[in-house]
Amino acid sequence: MLTRIKDIATKLAPRLIEIRRHIHSHPELSGQEYQTAAYVAGVLSSNDVRVQEAVGKTGVVGEVQGTGCDPRLLAIRTDMDALPIQERTHLDFISRKQSIMHACGHDVHTTVGLGTAMVLSQLSSELPGSIRFLFQPAEETAQGASWMVQAGVMANVSAILSLHVYPSIPAGSIGVRYGSLTAAADDLEIIILGESGHGARPHEAIDAIWIASQVITTLQQAISRTQNPLRPVVLTIGQISGGRAPNVIAERVRLVGTVRSLHPETRTSLHSWISQIVSNICQCYGARCEVNYRPGVPGVQNDSTLSQLVQTAAEEAWGSNRVQILTEPSLGAEDFSLYLEHVPGAMFRLGVGYKDRVLNYPLHHPLFEVDESAILTGVVTLAYSAYKYFKPQS
Ligand code: NI
Repeated sequence: MLTRIKDIATKLAPRLIEIRRHIHSHPELSGQEYQTAAYVAGVLSSNDVRVQEAVGKTGVVGEVQGTGCDPRLLAIRTDMDALPIQERTHLDFISRKQSIMHACGHDVHTTVGLGTAMVLSQLSSELPGSIRFLFQPAEETAQGASWMVQAGVMANVSAILSLHVYPSIPAGSIGVRYGSLTAAADDLEIIILGESGHGARPHEAIDAIWIASQVITTLQQAISRTQNPLRPVVLTIGQISGGRAPNVIAERVRLVGTVRSLHPETRTSLHSWISQIVSNICQCYGARCEVNYRPGVPGVQNDSTLSQLVQTAAEEAWGSNRVQILTEPSLGAEDFSLYLEHVPGAMFRLGVGYKDRVLNYPLHHPLFEVDESAILTGVVTLAYSAYKYFKPQS
C-alpha cells in the first residue's frame, strides 16, 4: 500500500504545487476565506470527495468513504487562513493582495489536506474505514476550531491528525512530538486607574504610568521567583496605552498581553496570581485596578499512540533518519487543542526548510518561504498514517 500511495502522490505532485501556488497568491484573512473555501470545495468535488461547504462559517468538510467494515472515522484537519503581513519575497506567485500573506504555511497545510484526500479517494475501495477532512478557517485568531466543533464536525470522529510546517526542519523530514506540543494561551488586560495632575507636582497626583511600569517589572521578576521553573510561564505585555501630554500625569493606563503555560494546574492558578500582584502594587500607591483574564485555547497534548502511528508511518515511508523526535514543546498556541477536547489526536511538524540555505526565515516573517518538495512528504505521511490507523499491521 505504501508504494501505491507514493506512486499516486508522486503523479499528483505537479498539480499539488499548482494548487499551493494558487492559494499562496490569493491569501485571505481569518474568517474571510470565501475564495479559498470555494477553491478547496471545487478541488475536492472534482476528485470524487463528498463535500460540505460553509461549515463553521467559511470551513469546508470533505469525506472519503471507506468500503471496509471498520466503524471508526478518522479526521484530518488543516487550516486555510493567512496573516495581515506584506509579503517581501521575490516568488513568481507572490501574494496578489496588499498586506495579506500566507506567512504561516497554511497554504501548504491546505494543499497537503487536498493531496491526501485525492490520494485516499483513489484508494477508497481498499480503505477499511472513512476519513473526514476538515479545512478550518480562522486558526490565526483561534476562532475557527470552535466554529467547526460547534457546527458538529466531530460527530462520530474517533481520532484526529494534523500538521504544521516548520522551517527549522529540512524539507523531506518530519518532526514528531510526544505529549505536550504547544502551550495554553490566555489573554490579559490590566487597567490601572490613578489620579491626574501637573507633571511638576507628582505628590498631588497618582501616576498610573509609573505604577504600570512597577506592575510590568514585578510580574516578570515574580515569574522567576514564584513560579515552578520546570513548569514554564511566559507573560508578554504587547500593548500599553495611557497619558495625554508630556507635562500631565496620566490617570489611566491599559496593558494588554498574552499569558502562555504548559501545565493545566499552573494555568488555573495564573488569573488569581496576576490579580494579587497587580492589586497589591496598586494599593501601595493608592491606585485602583481591574484585571481581566480571558482563557484562550488550551495546550495541544499529543496522544502517544497516534504520535507513534505517524512516526512509524513516516519511518517506513522515508527512513528513520528523516524523522526527528522533538524533545521540546513550543510556547506557541494552536486551536487544534479544541478538537482534542473530544477525541485523541496528534499534530506533527512538516519540515519545509531549504537544505542549502543558511537562513530559513521563521513563520510569520515577510520573507518566509517553503521548499515545496515538502508537500509530497506531507501527503504520503498523512495518507499512509491514515491507512495504518485502520490497518496497523500492513
Ligand atoms: Ni500556523
